[in-house]
Amino acid sequence: MAVFEIDAIVDQACAAKPMTLEEKAALCTGAGPWQTAAVERLGVGPVTMCDGPHGLRRLDDLSTMTAPSLPATCFPTASCQAATWNTSLMEQLGEALAEEAIALGVDVILGPGTNMKRTPLCGRNFEYFSEDPYLSGALASAYVQAVQRAGVGTSLKHFAANNQEYQRFNISVDVDERTLREIYLAAFERVVKEAHPWTVMCAYNRINSTHCSNHRQLLTQILKDEWGFNGAVISDWGAVHDRVTALQAGLDLEMPGPKPHRVDAVVAAVRDGTLDEGALDESVRRILGVAHQAAQTPKGHPFDEGAHHALARRIAAEGIVLLKNDGLLPLQSPGRIAVIGRAAIEPRIQGAGSSHVNPTRVDNCLDSIQRLAGEARVTYAEGYSSELDIDQALIDEAVALAQAARVALLFVALPPVIESEGYDRPDLNLTAQQVALIKAVTAVQPRTVVILNTGSAVVMDQWVDGAAAVLEAWLMGQAGAGAVVDALFGRLNPSGRLAETFPRKLTDTPAYLNFPGENGVVRYGEGPFIGYRYYDAREMPVLFPFGHGLSYTTFAYDRARVSARRFKDVEGVALSVDVTNTGDMAGQEVVQVYVHDREASLMRPVKELKAFAKVHLEPGETTTVTFHLGFRAFAFYHPAHQRWITEDGQFDLLIGGSAADIRCTESVTLESTLDLPSLLNEESTLREWLADPQGKSVIQPLFEQIVAHLGGAPANREHPPEPTGMDAARSVLDMPVLSILRFREDALPATPEDMVAWLLEEVQ
Ligand code: BGC
Repeated sequence: MAVFEIDAIVDQACAAKPMTLEEKAALCTGAGPWQTAAVERLGVGPVTMCDGPHGLRRLDDLSTMTAPSLPATCFPTASCQAATWNTSLMEQLGEALAEEAIALGVDVILGPGTNMKRTPLCGRNFEYFSEDPYLSGALASAYVQAVQRAGVGTSLKHFAANNQEYQRFNISVDVDERTLREIYLAAFERVVKEAHPWTVMCAYNRINSTHCSNHRQLLTQILKDEWGFNGAVISDWGAVHDRVTALQAGLDLEMPGPKPHRVDAVVAAVRDGTLDEGALDESVRRILGVAHQAAQTPKGHPFDEGAHHALARRIAAEGIVLLKNDGLLPLQSPGRIAVIGRAAIEPRIQGAGSSHVNPTRVDNCLDSIQRLAGEARVTYAEGYSSELDIDQALIDEAVALAQAARVALLFVALPPVIESEGYDRPDLNLTAQQVALIKAVTAVQPRTVVILNTGSAVVMDQWVDGAAAVLEAWLMGQAGAGAVVDALFGRLNPSGRLAETFPRKLTDTPAYLNFPGENGVVRYGEGPFIGYRYYDAREMPVLFPFGHGLSYTTFAYDRARVSARRFKDVEGVALSVDVTNTGDMAGQEVVQVYVHDREASLMRPVKELKAFAKVHLEPGETTTVTFHLGFRAFAFYHPAHQRWITEDGQFDLLIGGSAADIRCTESVTLESTLDLPSLLNEESTLREWLADPQGKSVIQPLFEQIVAHLGGAPANREHPPEPTGMDAARSVLDMPVLSILRFREDALPATPEDMVAWLLEEVQ
């Protein structure tokens, strides 16, 4: 429903029977753990919310925080979803989630989570998509649009910069504005502008000292005023500190409830004039809007469990990433198979915490392998226990089975106690037992495939060389087992690509020196350089790069071309490339486009993902993929201008199969149409004046005088030659013009201050 229609309906309802102050205050704090207050007099029912994001955690008893939840499909978590790089699959996921919400009487799903993976140590990374805001934004937008098309709301979370679990309720993220805009807000911005989520969930943490729930600049100026968000901002559960301050900042709904003292505080604040009733009315309008939209969708229609299980399998299938393969995969008439590892019978399908779904059923890999290869050919050893201690007997048993088999399939899941909401990971390792197991098995059986169930990157330095193949299956959802087995046996061709870099070691990671923070503050010292932006800039090798993923076929890229060599930023440019499946198996390629800015007035990442497409190709088939790169593909956020800007200049458009596998490059010239005000001020340096288009013409005569004046003394034996002219001028390039003039004050017709004021007037 269009925003103006909702506004009209809400206004009408309120005008006919105006809400009392008490009713309004009560509406802005939850009536229970999962529901808003009903306003019966106005016929407004409660809005029911539940987690999210990869399946419904609809509690059986909505009056508690922790009751068992009703069965729902457990889809793969966001790490796996993101690795599909498939927006149409995200739409199918959204549709299925909406059907389950309707079946379970849920109005708003608390997801998706679109925070950035700043460090692979974040305990909640399994719930987040990527280290790249473009990819996260595209996937989250598809998800939100699909859920909401079906008449169910979403809650885009956690807004914003919620990138760690350590001290998550209070930690202050010390981040500069450009980094915030380009990395930590960009995915939210896209989803808000493109998909119009019904609600946005405000994060627990602080940003630059202010709790997000009290952050007026974040919630009102940026989200509502600048991006045009017309839904309701809801708090993360327990994120509100001062209800009145939060309302003034733009936090519409506090969850969970009931909290009578909060309601009383709001009533009192309006009465004593501390809180403008207009601010309260605005929040009421937004919450009523959500309630009204929710009421349009009749609930209770059952969902098709079988069809959703099949969809969960398809998502897992497309998200599995074949990290390494020396040719062993796909398995063909493998003979006797040793299946090793607890995860083969107890797969890790999701992470721990608020997103935990009660699955409708769970497949396991051992059963699927036995069905496919025949029970007689398959042996099984547990390999590691649920405890974290070393158990040599389990390793010995596994080694014996591996030796007696033609191939070993080693299933390893990071224990849930290591990766969870609420705390971060201590390191990037598998457990000591798991590492010892992989080393022992691969030592006797070179034909070993390691299949990982992890929510984020792990390091593999101790064992990766010994494994013939490595498959990352993530937290693969309830139907993931079938997909893994299909990939192993070539019944599907892996097409997942990493949405996060796998580093060689923890100490290489971008936030290593600034994580998890101390004294209540975590400094985002790496700026916008997270993920591949960091490894690119440092020219640092990684284990597996962003965008990486192998296939059982090969793809060739050819005839890259652009619609224009020179273009205006507002028009953008089209980029096409022909992609051919050069192998003998049908497969899908993820074509990735990165943009490299050759020169900019601020330091920029070497390249940034700005478009992608997943294409299916039969053997020998060629397709042309075309991308349109608009203003934002070339822009960066300029903190001094307080906006996204473009600058004239040359850009390289890099097309490839991963951040480290660029196949074609096209160069183009962008003409900026922006008429930006000059940033020159009293403190600007000579270099800054010369770099400014208007400033240059004004300062040039003065600059020439300086060069002439710095003619330098002739060299002799005692005094080695001094830099002269231009060379000498370099030493003053980074001095403020005002300071340079002060050196020559005696020769000036006016004071240096007056001269600079005059120069500045000339550039306005
Ligand atoms: C989590 C949210 C979740 C909420 C409700 C919070 O602790 O951070 O992601 O939606 O609980 O369960």
